[in-house]
Amino acid sequence: MFIRYSDELIEEIRINNDIVDVVSEYVRLEKRGKNYFGLCPFHREKTPSFSVEDVKQIFYCFGCGKGGNVFQFITLAEKIDFIDAVRHLADRAKIELPESDDAEEVARARQKQQVSEINLLAARYYNDVFNSDKGTVARDYLKRRDISVSTAKKFGLGYSPDQWDSLYEHLKASGSNDELMLKSGLIQKSAKGQLYDRFRGRLMFPIFDVRGLVIGFGGRVLDDSLPKYMNSPETVVYNKGKHLYALNFAKNADSEKLVVVEGYMDVISLYQSGINNVVASLGTALTESQGRLLKKYAQEIVISYDSDKAGQAATQRGLDLLNSIGCNVKVLTVPDGKDPDGFIRKSGPDSFKRLIEGSLTLIEYKIRVLRQGHDLSTTDGKIAFLNKAALVLAKVDNAVEREMYIKKLSAEYEISEEAMLSEVLRRTRRSSASSGKSLKIANAVEAARKSAAPVDEVQEKILQSERFILSLLCVDNSIYPVLKEHFKVNEITGDENKRIAQIIYTKLNERKDFTPAELMNVVSSQEAGEFARVLKEECHCDDNSKAVLGKIKEIGILKAERRQKQVLELLRNTENLSKGDVDKLKLELRDLILKIKNMKDMPI
Ligand code: UTP
Ligand code: MN
Repeated sequence: MFIRYSDELIEEIRINNDIVDVVSEYVRLEKRGKNYFGLCPFHREKTPSFSVEDVKQIFYCFGCGKGGNVFQFITLAEKIDFIDAVRHLADRAKIELPESDDAEEVARARQKQQVSEINLLAARYYNDVFNSDKGTVARDYLKRRDISVSTAKKFGLGYSPDQWDSLYEHLKASGSNDELMLKSGLIQKSAKGQLYDRFRGRLMFPIFDVRGLVIGFGGRVLDDSLPKYMNSPETVVYNKGKHLYALNFAKNADSEKLVVVEGYMDVISLYQSGINNVVASLGTALTESQGRLLKKYAQEIVISYDSDKAGQAATQRGLDLLNSIGCNVKVLTVPDGKDPDGFIRKSGPDSFKRLIEGSLTLIEYKIRVLRQGHDLSTTDGKIAFLNKAALVLAKVDNAVEREMYIKKLSAEYEISEEAMLSEVLRRTRRSSASSGKSLKIANAVEAARKSAAPVDEVQEKILQSERFILSLLCVDNSIYPVLKEHFKVNEITGDENKRIAQIIYTKLNERKDFTPAELMNVVSSQEAGEFARVLKEECHCDDNSKAVLGKIKEIGILKAERRQKQVLELLRNTENLSKGDVDKLKLELRDLILKIKNMKDMPI
């Protein structure tokens, strides 16, 4: 459900959740001066560098750079997005949130809620049956697979009785209506119009979303019959490509890695062995939304699919997908064709942890797969392998990285390093020379990139100065008239800064105030920490007007110098320019030089 809450409401919610109180529910804080300090909940540390400031109502960690107001704190602590943090804190402060005024949206939200309720009723029902006499078969089955009672409880496992309509009767008795039951996918309609249960005689795995709501089920037979698993169909609350099994648990694991396995049973078995940073992809090829979810919760993703043909293909696709959306991804191969569950039961958790540590990078994995396709005991096989491996390595952009792989591989496969290197180099040259045109374009881009690097640095400096000015304005609203005059919104370089300035200026124009914590309501989540740092470390000036004027001057000089550099660059290569253009540029250059000198000489 998408509702955009008003800025005033968001601010009311913030004000009613004192940051010191809220943080204290997660972190032990000690007062030191005007700050509270504690151990940062967002990175490992032994001495406190996590600070909360009562007056500004912001937090900032000097160790990891995370910072913001109470909303950002909750997004990080609860691993939820901004809107959910707003809801969470509204709830805490007992502030009622408005419902959307779009009737269709309200109806959809209501239906989602009702289907969720049915899912929850069903999960409880299956679990009750599981623990009753009727569930003995399922409990025995799990015992045979060494899954303990407490693990089963943790995952809310259940059993669907081997009857046509036991869930249907149960739901009806609880007051659910037929239409909603059908919408939940747990109940189906026969050709004759009779309603009956989708899951019968199966071990039931409730599927939770990140927040822990039951959104669907997987059901496994207790013998070798087929299909082995049945799953909830797509419903208003369940879209299998958008969720990952057990992410609600794994997101709280104390690890920067997430391991992705294929099956429900793999997750549960690993979890029972103390490896809790693991999720399953719900029996489909990884989708882009799953990839983005993974990226949100982990620094590194380790794919551990079956090593059979299908598993290998799925691994390749998953790798390419995750790589393409910018994830740091590795591959774990379980030896002897076992799945993670089988492996850990035989070899134990420590061995599995070693497998995680030893997982292969994308390139290493690709080469490993190639190697399996060639017989390295023959010269022909070795040459063919070398050729293909060189092709893979030639695609690694970074020369240092490329060399590292060459070293590693030549040692591992007993190929001389020089031979490998020369093969790879031959291919890097060939692949870039294959088309003269693309080479030219590539060169031009490369040249632009080289000359742009310092320009980027200048740009970052400008953005930093702008952030400082906006932050100081929130600390001291009385400098607004100065800024209105000398730091106009349309002169601000960063789009994000421009947007923020617009919001602050509008409010201050209405003679309202604007606080640092309010600033945090409107900055993007990526920049919250940076703004918090500026507020904590830089916004203590003797004379605030003078400080911002100084920064404005600095920005002016930086911009003029950047342009000067560009003009000089253009003038260095005049053959493509008309005489008129050259003259214009020369004139501009003269003006710039004068302007820079004037600015530097001028006292603030
Ligand atoms: P697996 O066959 O590896 O299942 O399928 P598993 O979880 O390891 O179960 P056990 O160990 O055989 O009991 C991997 C995943 O693929 C989906 C399920 O999500 C399963 O967990 N799957 C598999 C289906 O949806 N339907 C099927 O018929 C089989
Ligand atoms: Mn299995």
